[in-house]
Amino acid sequence: MADLSTTVNGLEMPNPFVIGSGPPGTNANVIGKAFDEGWGAVIAKTISLEAEKVINVQPRYARLRSRKSNEIFGWENIELISDRSFETWMDEFKQLKDKYPDRILIASIMEEYRKDAWCEIVERCQDVGVDALELNLSCPHGLPERKMGSAMGVNPDLVEEVTGWAMSVAQVPVWAKMTPNVTRIEDPTSAALKAGADGIAAINTIRSVLGVDLESLRPEPCVEGYTTLGGYSCQAIKPIALRNCMEIATLIRSEYPDRTLSGIGGVETGLDAAEFILLGSDCVQVCTGVMKMGYKMVKPMIEELSGFMDKHGFNNIDDFKGHSLQFFRTHAELVEIQAKARAERKAEHDAKMIREDTQWTGDDFVDQSDALSRG
Ligand SMILES: Cc1cc2nc3c(=O)[nH]c(=O)nc-3n(C[C@H](O)[C@H](O)[C@H](O)COP(=O)(O)O)c2cc1C
Repeated sequence: MADLSTTVNGLEMPNPFVIGSGPPGTNANVIGKAFDEGWGAVIAKTISLEAEKVINVQPRYARLRSRKSNEIFGWENIELISDRSFETWMDEFKQLKDKYPDRILIASIMEEYRKDAWCEIVERCQDVGVDALELNLSCPHGLPERKMGSAMGVNPDLVEEVTGWAMSVAQVPVWAKMTPNVTRIEDPTSAALKAGADGIAAINTIRSVLGVDLESLRPEPCVEGYTTLGGYSCQAIKPIALRNCMEIATLIRSEYPDRTLSGIGGVETGLDAAEFILLGSDCVQVCTGVMKMGYKMVKPMIEELSGFMDKHGFNNIDDFKGHSLQFFRTHAELVEIQAKARAERKAEHDAKMIREDTQWTGDDFVDQSDALSRG
C-alpha cells in the first residue's frame, strides 16, 4: 500500500488530510476526536485575544441542495471566529499537546491591525506548544467590519506588513490563509511569501448570497428578517479552489520553492484530495465535508487516496505532487498545439491512404482499410 505520510514545513503528518479551521476544530473535545479518527493534523477554529468582541447570531448557515438527489453541495455561513475565551483556548491547546504529543495541532489566529496584538497572539499560542500557526487574513464576513480577516487579505501591503509582524516573533511554521475574493490571488500570496510565511493555505470561503426565500422574500440565512453577506464553501467551490491553488503553486514553484501550499475548498473524498495534490498542494484541508459527514470520513478518504496512488504506481505523496501543473498553457499555445497535432494526424492518415492497388500491404491492412473508410 502507498505511503500517505507527509512532512510539511517539518510537520510530520500520518496522512495529508487536515481539519480546516471552523466548527470541526471548535474545542478540545472535537479536536481530540479528529486525532482519534486519524486525521493528519487539525487547525483549530480561529481565535483572537478578545473573544468578548465576537458575538454570533443564529441561524448562521444556509445550504444549497441538488435538485435531483437532495445532496448538499453548497454551504453559506455567516459564522464569526471563536467566541470562546483566549484563556480557555490556551488551556485546551496545552491539554491537547499533553494528550497527543505526536499529533500536529495548528492554531488559527486573527487580530486587529496592531503589531503588539499580533505579536502577543503568536507568542502566547506558541508558548503553550502548538506546532504551527495559520494567519486568518481571509474570513470574508463580519470581521472585515472590524478591519480584520479579508479586510487585510485583499490588500497585499497589509498582508505583507501583518505577516511580517507574525514572522518577527514566530518560532514555529506559519501559514498565511488567503481569500479568493480578489482578482489575482498571486498578489496577496506574493506579499505573504515576501514577508517570510512558510506556507500558504487557500482558499477561505467565497463571498456569497445563498438565495432568497420565495415565500418570505427574505435572503438566507435569515436572522430576524435580515441577513448579511456570507462565505460560500463545500463541493460547489472546488473548481474555484483548484484554480486558485494552481496559481499559487505555480508562483511558489517559480519563486519560493521551499514554501508549501495547503489546498482547501470542497474536498470530500480521497480523489478530490488527489486533484489538489496533483495541482501542487502539500496537504489538503476539509471543513464543510466534516460538517456533512462527520470525522469518520477520513478513513474512506485514506483508502481512496491510497487506491489512486496504487493504481498509478505512486509510492508517496511527493511522487505526484504538482504533476498536473505542467499541462497548463495559454489559449494561443493551445491553438498552436492543436494545429500541429492535426497536421501530424493528417500526415499519418495520408501516409496510410491507398492511391493504387499495388500499395496495399499485408502488415497494416486494417489501418489502411480504416483510412479509406474515412476518406
Ligand atoms: C461554518 C464555517 C466556519 C468557518 N470558520 C472559519 C474560521 O474560523 N477560520 C477560518 O480560517 N476559516 C473558517 N472557515 C473556512 C474553512 O476553513 C474553509 O476555508 C472553507 O470553508 C472552504 O473549505 P471547505 O469547502 O472544505 O469547507 C469556516 C467555514 C465554515 C463552513
